[in-house]
Amino acid sequence: MIKLVTVVGARPQFIKAAMLSRAVCGTDGVEEVVIHTGQHYDPNMSDVFFDELKIERPTHNLGIGGGSHGQNTGRMLEAIEHILLKESPTAVVVYGDTDSTLAGALAAAKLCIPVVHVEAGLRSYNMSMPEEVNRRLTDHVSSLLLAPNESAVTILLGEGLNLSTIRNTGDLMFDAALHFGELAQSRSDILISLGLRPGNYILATVHRQENTDDRNRLACLVRAFENSPFTIVLPLHPRTRKRMEEFSIVLPSNVLVTQPLGYLDMVMLEKNARLIATDSGGVQKEAYFHGIPCITLRNETEWPELIEMGWNRLVSPDSEDLTRALMRDYERGRQDLAPYGNGDAADLAIAAIKAAFANKS
Ligand code: UD1
Ligand code: UDP
Repeated sequence: MIKLVTVVGARPQFIKAAMLSRAVCGTDGVEEVVIHTGQHYDPNMSDVFFDELKIERPTHNLGIGGGSHGQNTGRMLEAIEHILLKESPTAVVVYGDTDSTLAGALAAAKLCIPVVHVEAGLRSYNMSMPEEVNRRLTDHVSSLLLAPNESAVTILLGEGLNLSTIRNTGDLMFDAALHFGELAQSRSDILISLGLRPGNYILATVHRQENTDDRNRLACLVRAFENSPFTIVLPLHPRTRKRMEEFSIVLPSNVLVTQPLGYLDMVMLEKNARLIATDSGGVQKEAYFHGIPCITLRNETEWPELIEMGWNRLVSPDSEDLTRALMRDYERGRQDLAPYGNGDAADLAIAAIKAAFANKS
C-alpha cells in the first residue's frame, strides 16, 4: 500500500486536492491522509470548498495561519514533522507555491520522505514574490515533479532537474473546470442574487502581496475600476479587505463587493463575465478554460502560454493603460491548442505516483 500524506492550507490547494483525492479514492493500493495547515481559516476561504467539492475533512488541522511568512512556515514545519513521524508515509504530496507547500516539502525532505510536487516548474523570475521562493525550493527538494504543461518541464530540465523525476500530467485546475463547470450552471444562482446580466460585468480578484501591500498600486487599481463604465464584481480576499481598511481606500459605487465566494458561484461568475481582471494564478487559467478574455494585474505571469494564445494580457495596476484595458472589447484567443492537458491530470498523477513508489511502500 502506498500511503500519501497530502499537505494543503490555501484556497486553490483545496480545489486541486479535491481532484486528486477523488482519483485516490478510486485507486487500489493507494491511501491518503490529509493535513490542513490552517493557513486559510475563514469558513468562506476553507470550509466552503470541503463542503461543495465533497472533500473529506482533513485528519489533521494545524490551525496555523494569520502570521508572517516566516512565522507560518516555521510553525507549520515543526507541526508537520511531528505528524510525519507518526504517520510514516511513503510520500508527501504538496501543491503549488504557498507557505504551506514549502513547509510540507521541507518537513518531508528533512525526514528523507519523498516529496511529490504538484504544479512543479512554474516561474515568474521575480524573487521578491514569496511564491517564487516557495516554488523554487520545493521543486529542488522533490522526488517527483508533476508539471502542468510542457513549458514547466522545460524549465525544470533547464534548472538541472533529472528527467526521470518529471512528468507532464496536465493541470488539475483544468480537470476541476471540466468537472464542476456544468455543475455550477445548474447549482449557482449568483447572477440572480447579485442582479447581474451575462456579459455585462467585469469579474475582478486581487490578493497578491505586491498589489495589496503597496498603497499606491492598490489605490491606482481602485481608481481604474472607478473609471470603468462597467460594473466590477469583486469577491474580496480577506488580505485585500484588511489592507483597504488600513489604507482608508474606499471602493467606488460601480464596484460590487462580495465576500470570498464558493467555487461554484465563482465559476458561474467567470463563465458569464465580459472580461476577467485578476492577479490570481488560478483565475487566469479559468478565464481561458471558460473562454473569457483576461487581464492579468501584474508585471509577469507563470502562465505565459495564455498570453501567447491571445487570451490574456499583462497590465500593471499602476499603469495608465489599465483604465483603457478595462474598457476594451477583446477578440477571443486561440482554442486549438491544449496547453494544460486533456482533463485527466488526476489519473496521470496517480499513475506517476504508483510508478514511482509501488516498490517502496
Ligand atoms: C496565499 C498564498 C498565495 C496564494 C493565496 C491564495 C503564500 C505566501 N501566499 O496568499 O500564493 O495565491 O494564498 O488565496 O502562501 N486571511 C484571513 N482569513 C483567511 C486567510 C487569510 O483573514 O482565511 C488574512 C490574514 O490577515 C492573513 C492574510 O490574509 O495574514 C494573508 O494570508 P496568507 O495566507 O498569508 O496569504 P494570502 O495572501 O492568502
Ligand atoms: N476562487 C473562489 N472564490 C473566490 C475567489 C477565487 O472559489 O472568491 C477560486 C478560483 O475560482 C480559483 C481559485 O480560487 O479556482 C484561485 O485561488 P486564488 O486566487 O486565491 O489563488 P491563486 O490561484 O492565485 O494561488
